[in-house]
Amino acid sequence: MLKARRILLIIGGGIAAYKALDLIRRLRERGAAVTPVMTTAAAEFVTPLSAAALAGEAVHGALFDLTREAEMGHIQLSRVADLVVVAPGTADLMAKMAQGLANDLASTLLLATDTPVLVAPAMNVRMWQHAATQRNLTTLRGDGVRFVGPNDGDMACGEYGPGRMAEPLEIVAAAEAMLVGGPLSGRRVVVTSGPTHEPIDPVRYIANRSSGAQGTEIARALAALGAEVVFVTGPAQVPPPEAVEVVRVETAQQMRDAVLAALPVDAAVFAAAVADWRMAEAVTSKMKKAEGRLPVLQFAENPDILAEVSQLSRGRPRLVVGFAAETDNVEAHATAKRLRKGCDWIVANDVSPATGIMGGSENAVTLISGAGAEVWPRMGKRAVGDRLAQRIAETLAAV
Ligand code: CTP
Repeated sequence: MLKARRILLIIGGGIAAYKALDLIRRLRERGAAVTPVMTTAAAEFVTPLSAAALAGEAVHGALFDLTREAEMGHIQLSRVADLVVVAPGTADLMAKMAQGLANDLASTLLLATDTPVLVAPAMNVRMWQHAATQRNLTTLRGDGVRFVGPNDGDMACGEYGPGRMAEPLEIVAAAEAMLVGGPLSGRRVVVTSGPTHEPIDPVRYIANRSSGAQGTEIARALAALGAEVVFVTGPAQVPPPEAVEVVRVETAQQMRDAVLAALPVDAAVFAAAVADWRMAEAVTSKMKKAEGRLPVLQFAENPDILAEVSQLSRGRPRLVVGFAAETDNVEAHATAKRLRKGCDWIVANDVSPATGIMGGSENAVTLISGAGAEVWPRMGKRAVGDRLAQRIAETLAAV
């Protein structure tokens, strides 16, 4: 709940501004008071009257409004809120924030505020992927600004990809996690999940049976404790959790790039079942049958993301957690794997067929750390997620 919390909602000028109206409604449903501020461009997409009617408050727009200045100066306006939410966070607003510009009310408030800021970016895919925007994103993260989304999807401009604003309920969940807090609020975590698909040719691929269920439960549990979670997922069978930033990938190499792009993080959890090999040469046309001849597939080794991140000399997360699926000598194999990879913990599970764990809803985990092995009772994957997230929170609080 957001009872008695005041949110300063800065509405940027983008097509997603219409969703900001629903966001006002959703925030108020949760008990928050909302003070809307609209940029000049935002007022081209939605009317200030709609925002004011939904918020039940006046909308602020111009920097030098003398009547308003007398009632409440812009500095004061930026301070009365418990949280500043920027939705849609346009490329322009992000650039202004990163540069510290203050040439309209929205950017002035963002520079003057001393309250936490949550941005829900929304823009065209290419604008989002542009080096300038990605640079600004890194700068803003370094300044302590938090982000929710953007999501992948069809965009109003006809393109597909990351750039769509997070849904209002996702923004509300992120706001709630920041305000109500939790042991992991202010912490950023990356979680990998699901299988990877390695193409053989344009129509065939190598895959594995990972459903992504355990990784999804871990990401959900971390977000529920207030963490900002980047969820890097291969093609999984279960939908991603809410209130996390979802980065969809297909191959191990894409997963590696997405993980490195998510750094810096406080903790990294590698729950994905990454394919160990890919085709040595990319085959761009479909392989055809040839009489009396069987194809020979040449493999190359994929990057070991867990090992690479564990062994980073600069920017290593404080806590790196790997997984190990073993069928025998679980503890011995997992202990050796922890040392080989250089990670802090290994979550080992016994996947021998008799356990029924592979593809099932339960898990039997042994947590291997520098302190030794801790056998957890068999429990649901959701409970494993909750318990692991709790342990991560305790550990980050202690270091
Ligand atoms: N992992 C990774 N990148 C890879 C391969 C694995 O990040 N290219 C991570 C997985 O996400 C998991 C751990 O490493 O956290 C598993 O290590 P791996 O050596 O693949 O172990 P197993 O899958 O258990 O296989 P094996 O015992 O054959 O080594």
